[in-house]
Amino acid sequence: MVPFAVKMWSRCLWTLLPLFVPVHGVFKKLYCSLSESCECDFKPDIRGLEWDLYKNVFGQHLAQEAVSQEVSTFLQTKSPDRPLVLSLHGASGTGKTLVSSMLGSHLYGSGMNSPFVHQFIPTLHFPQAQHVDKYRRALKDWVQGNLTECARSVFLFDEMEKMPPGLIDVLEPFLGPFHVVYSTNYRKAIYVFISTVGEEVISKAVLAARRSDRDRDEIRLNELQEAIAHEAFNSTDSGFSGSRVVSQGLVTVFVPFLPLTRAHVERCVRAQLCQRGHCGRSDVVQAVGGALSYSPKHGQYFSTTGCKAVPAKIDLHL
Ligand SMILES: Nc1ncnc2c1ncn2[C@@H]1O[C@H](COP(=O)(O)OP(=O)(O)O)[C@@H](O)[C@H]1O
Ligand SMILES: [Mg+2]
Repeated sequence: MVPFAVKMWSRCLWTLLPLFVPVHGVFKKLYCSLSESCECDFKPDIRGLEWDLYKNVFGQHLAQEAVSQEVSTFLQTKSPDRPLVLSLHGASGTGKTLVSSMLGSHLYGSGMNSPFVHQFIPTLHFPQAQHVDKYRRALKDWVQGNLTECARSVFLFDEMEKMPPGLIDVLEPFLGPFHVVYSTNYRKAIYVFISTVGEEVISKAVLAARRSDRDRDEIRLNELQEAIAHEAFNSTDSGFSGSRVVSQGLVTVFVPFLPLTRAHVERCVRAQLCQRGHCGRSDVVQAVGGALSYSPKHGQYFSTTGCKAVPAKIDLHL
């Protein structure tokens, strides 16, 4: 804990900082050695994020492209006209939570443990739909309070399909370019929504590509945007059901996560085996790949659990 007097003094120093533009780096270092503020913990590493996505996320060319591009454009814009709103969609075990964690880790020095990265899980934070009014007030106050404290706050909402209907719309004023109502720093925040909604339309697109002998990597982002937005808005349990966040176009990009094939899952197995010091065990890779279940019935192209069941299966076969 930093003592209050030191905290106040370091805050003063921060306000005076623009006066010392040529020695900005030195003063920032001094300030940050005393402060726990978000300006100090915010250390975006765009190249690191791109590399992590490219190297450690398998079979997700759309997520790699969309996340790298949107995050890099957003962070390079000095004064963004609206916050960055990413909505990640796809079947279970395809890498949505993994990618959101990579984002948090490459933005803040203390990664996902940063006090400026806020994670919400509906079953934990908003378990009872009948209390939606109470949750709306609490969520609005939480977001507003934290944005006042730190303009670069990151808000992650996992399992959106379990979000009580009507709750997420309380964020509408924070997500748009509302210059008059709110101050500029509300537009530097990043929001990430995660759900399985749209998994069928995504899987249909990959199957259609397969049938027409088109490589899955040739599927483009804009082919899926509208279909996912439509699903999110119209499904009763998407967290975005009838939501103005969708109808007003406040989501920057809907990021599709494609269903993983056996080859992708085997890459997950190999990566995890290597982490445990068993890089050469191709027999285990084969065995785990063969022990998982695949869909659809005709074709059996996609792992029904993505890479989620991999650690448990490795334990059985190692
Ligand atoms: N595309 C992928 N590439 C590499 N690892 C993956 C991928 N998808 C899932 N995994 C691994 O599988 C586990 C579950 O993934 P997770 O991101 O939690 O899936 P979900 O899409 O359900 O959020 C994690 O350990 C993650 O590292
Ligand atoms: Mg998840």
